[in-house]
Amino acid sequence: APRVFSGIQPTADSFHLGNYLGALRQWVAMQDTHDAFYCVVDLHAITVEHDPAALRRRTRVAAAQLLAMGLDQDRSTLFVQSHVPEHAELAWVLGCLTGFGEAGRMTQFKDKSAKQGTSGTTVGLFTYPVLQAADILLYTPDPGPGEAALQVPVGEDQRQHLELSRTLAQRFNHRFGATFVAPEAYIPKGAAKITDLQDPTAKMSKSASSPQGIVDVLEEPGPMRKKIMRAVTDTGSEVRYDEESKAGVTNLLRIFSALEGTSVEDLERRYEGSGYGQFKKDLAEVVVDAFTPIRERTLKLLDDEEQLDRLLAQGAGRASAVAARTMEIVRDRVGFVGRGH
Ligand code: TYM
Repeated sequence: APRVFSGIQPTADSFHLGNYLGALRQWVAMQDTHDAFYCVVDLHAITVEHDPAALRRRTRVAAAQLLAMGLDQDRSTLFVQSHVPEHAELAWVLGCLTGFGEAGRMTQFKDKSAKQGTSGTTVGLFTYPVLQAADILLYTPDPGPGEAALQVPVGEDQRQHLELSRTLAQRFNHRFGATFVAPEAYIPKGAAKITDLQDPTAKMSKSASSPQGIVDVLEEPGPMRKKIMRAVTDTGSEVRYDEESKAGVTNLLRIFSALEGTSVEDLERRYEGSGYGQFKKDLAEVVVDAFTPIRERTLKLLDDEEQLDRLLAQGAGRASAVAARTMEIVRDRVGFVGRGH
C-alpha cells in the first residue's frame, strides 16, 4: 500500500474543529488504504516557550484523542516524535541543505516570530519547517520504479512547508543520489481552511485571540452549542455560500457539509427561507453528535495512562525500524563513516 505520514503538535489541551476537518479525519480514513504513520510532534511543540508538565499532559491527551477518533495501532502506526531520535538527526542534515533566506521566507515563521518578538524568537522556531521535512522524509517509501509518492494529509496552512519538504528531498537526491521520494500534500477540498467563528477571515487556531472563535473537540456540549449559536454571520438572512460577502455563513456551511456528508447545495436548499437560527441550531447538534463520542472515549483512554503509554511504545518501535533504515542510508550517502560492528 502507498505510504502516508502526518503530524500534529500537542500544544493545547484539545484539538479543534479545524484540525479535525482539515487533517485528522483524513488520517483516520487513510489508515485503511495506506501504510500509515502518524506522529504527535512534541519536538515542534517546544519551539515556543512551554511548560514541561503541560507538554507531558498534552502529548498524552493528543494521543488519546487520535485513538478516540479511530486511529488503531493494528491498522496504522501512531507514535511520539521524541521517541524516535532520528527525527532530530535528519533535521540536522537537512538544515545543512536549507538556505537561510529560504527558511526566512516561510510565512508561518514570519507570523509566529512577529508575535514572539526578536528576543522570544528561537532558532528552533526558525528551523521548525526543516524538522517537519525530516519527519516526513524519514518515512519515504523505498525508491523504486513507479513508487507512489508519500501522501501527507494536512490543512491548507501547511502547503508551503510541504513545498519545502519536496524541495529538500530533491536537493538531497541531486547532491547525494536518489534517496527520497518527493512527498505530496493531501489537502481536502471543502475543509482545508476552517475559519474562526468570531473572525471568519482568520483561520481557526489555537493561538486565536478569543476562545469563542474555536470549537474544541473535547468541549462539553453546552459551550459547544453556545459558540456555534454566537458565530458571527452577517446582516442578511440567506444561508448561501459566498466567500466574499458571507464569509461566516460560508464557514458554517463548510463545517456542516463536511461533518454531515451533505453537499453545500443541498444545505442551501434545505435552509432556503429559514434564516440563520434554525441553521445554526441544527449545525450545533451535528457538531455535538460528532464530538461527544470522541470526548467520552478520550477520557476513558486517559484513565489508563500505562496502557496508553504501552500503545505509544508499540508505535515507536515500528516507526523506529523505518526511521533507522532511512537514516543508515542517509549517513552513508552524506559521507559519515559507519560506526562498525
Ligand atoms: P498543527 O499541529 O498546527 O495542526 C495539525 C493539522 O491541522 C491542520 N489545521 C487546520 N486545517 C483546517 N483549518 C484550520 N483552521 C486548521 N488549523 C490547523 C493543519 O494544517 C495540520 O494539518 N507543522 C504541523 C505539524 C507537523 C507536521 C509534520 C504535519 C510537524 N511535522 C509532518 C505534517 C507532516 C502543524 O503545526 O500542524
